Amino acid sequence: MYANSKIPESAQQGVHEHLVERVAKHASCEFRKPVLDHNKAAFEASLAGWDGQAPLILDSGCGVGHSTIQLARAFPDHWVIGVDQSEDRLSRKKPYPDALLPKNMIFVRADLVDYWRLMADAGIRLARHYILYPNPWPKIGHLARRWHAHPVFPFVPRLGGRLECRSNWNIYVEEFAIALGLLIGRQLPWESFEAPSPLTPFERKYRDSGQTLYRCVVELDPQPTLEENPQ
Ligand SMILES: C[S@@+](CC[C@H](N)C(=O)[O-])C[C@H]1O[C@@H](n2cnc3c(N)ncnc32)[C@H](O)[C@@H]1O
Repeated sequence: MYANSKIPESAQQGVHEHLVERVAKHASCEFRKPVLDHNKAAFEASLAGWDGQAPLILDSGCGVGHSTIQLARAFPDHWVIGVDQSEDRLSRKKPYPDALLPKNMIFVRADLVDYWRLMADAGIRLARHYILYPNPWPKIGHLARRWHAHPVFPFVPRLGGRLECRSNWNIYVEEFAIALGLLIGRQLPWESFEAPSPLTPFERKYRDSGQTLYRCVVELDPQPTLEENPQ
């Protein structure tokens, strides 16, 4: 059956008790895992068609890539990169014939643990960054597998732009907001929202199953206020 997807079940009923200490530890320690060659090659391939000027959009964990396509259509003057570790998902049939796919986008297979670090270390700044329905890892013992509790997470705010994380598990989004807020020194909001035009297959499935969807949206490069920049 299609529209019978479940909300993640977890013994964890609120924000993980070790979240704050885990994020603080990752913020203060250097993440030294070596970058693999194939991720470096994917990183370079993802920028090969970019003119170096167009604003960048990153669709992190894009799955089958429907969101990447929709974003590229919605922002035709941007360069849109869909990254996923699964070749199988990336190569699944798209909702358009190849000839009608937007030209301002690319899909690359890479591990985001390396890809995000390569992008941050190259000093690249994004206009928009989407982390849509990441694997929730709801087991209490799997905290470190959630993006916001992973050692790579401090690299994510360095990429800048408007960052949006969506999930059907409210605790994931609340933790994401707390962890990101700790890294950037601001208290961040999160909310439930409606998705009349779902951006991804997971979003469509959750919506059609009657679930509430949650998101955290953060502008990582806030515009200076008039008082800060009075001209
Ligand atoms: C639950 S799916 C969501 C896919 C898509 N965003 C959607 O909403 O339909 C999570 C995706 O994240 C990808 N993923 C998980 N860990 C990853 C990693 N370390 N690097 C790249 N992709 C990863 C998985 O392959 C999977 O496609």
